[in-house]
Amino acid sequence: MTPAILIEDLAKSYGGKPVVRGVSLEVPAGHVLGLLGPNGAGKTTTVKMVSTLIRPDSGRALVCGHDVVRQAREVRALIGLTGQYASVDEDISGRENLYVISRLFNLPRRTARARADEMLERFGLTEAGTRPVGGYSGGMRRRLDLAASLVGDPRVLCLDEPTTGLDPHSRNALWAEVRRLAGQGTTVLLTTQYMEEAEALADSLVVIDRGRVIARGRTEELRSRLGGQVLCVRPEQVGDAAALRRALEIQGYPTPAPDEETGQIRLPLSGDGAQLSEVVKAVGQTGIPLSGVTVHMPSLDEVFLTLTGADRAPQAQAGALSARSAA
Ligand SMILES: Nc1ncnc2c1ncn2[C@@H]1O[C@H](COP(=O)(O)OP(=O)(O)OP(=O)(O)O)[C@@H](O)[C@H]1O
Ligand SMILES: [Mg+2]
Repeated sequence: MTPAILIEDLAKSYGGKPVVRGVSLEVPAGHVLGLLGPNGAGKTTTVKMVSTLIRPDSGRALVCGHDVVRQAREVRALIGLTGQYASVDEDISGRENLYVISRLFNLPRRTARARADEMLERFGLTEAGTRPVGGYSGGMRRRLDLAASLVGDPRVLCLDEPTTGLDPHSRNALWAEVRRLAGQGTTVLLTTQYMEEAEALADSLVVIDRGRVIARGRTEELRSRLGGQVLCVRPEQVGDAAALRRALEIQGYPTPAPDEETGQIRLPLSGDGAQLSEVVKAVGQTGIPLSGVTVHMPSLDEVFLTLTGADRAPQAQAGALSARSAA
């Protein structure tokens, strides 16, 4: 089957500075691909090339088999984009924004009005719909932006950091909407800086750094490779930490030494939920009074440090470092 997005060796420079350096990736129809990377990695530039907003210098990108340069018009008809920065007009109302966009999709006036109302309803913006967007909160703008990118019923949706700056409630609502769309078969290219978001939504991940792909794979595989969840257990009495560790080891969990000062034990998990419940049960069975149990995901920073550390050493011999310092 033709992939919804196929990117081959895509490259882009600005003022002689390469910012996307030969990125290749494939998103099968109906999949959610998480494109992860730190600031300046080239995520937005990649998304802009896929959505025809900027032209690649070399390589190619196809959306449902259509070339983003030679068949830009076909691609635009298939794609929806929620950019990193809100693209709605502040001076007019949410409803008017959606109406104008519906008209751009050639919907007749009455259908366009109905479509605008339907989208407002779907994104919980009916009440705010008549007010100018300038007075919306960040979360409301984000929702309106997503609504705007869905007016044309896109088969492929590009979401560029859709939840940056959102409170947990708005974030969850947006995640739910992305899941619903994916469930209906929409293909999603999602850029994010949040491991947690990528995990919550993506079937597979591509990690880029300085314009290059540094890791890729199914989300669960990468999670265990990049460092899965860590369970932190803290006994009430620091003196109990050694006994807690022994008990866990006896039950078959290789356990690192506790923190000397706090007694806290950090136990890396393999990444599946069943293991977490088993370890928690094992901890409970020790009968040792605890002052805290937390589960923590490695931050993206930690993940990048691991990845880039592992990735750069061999490249240095291949001359990649000089290319980087020239950039
Ligand atoms: N129009 C432009 N002119 C010059 N440089 C640009 C332009 N757009 C992007 N860049 C540079 O390209 C690099 C990649 O930018 P890009 O916006 O793609 O990164 P990103 O991965 O989306 O980062 P962020 O997480 O901060 O959004 C950055 O160094 C940026 O400064
Ligand atoms: Mg960006």
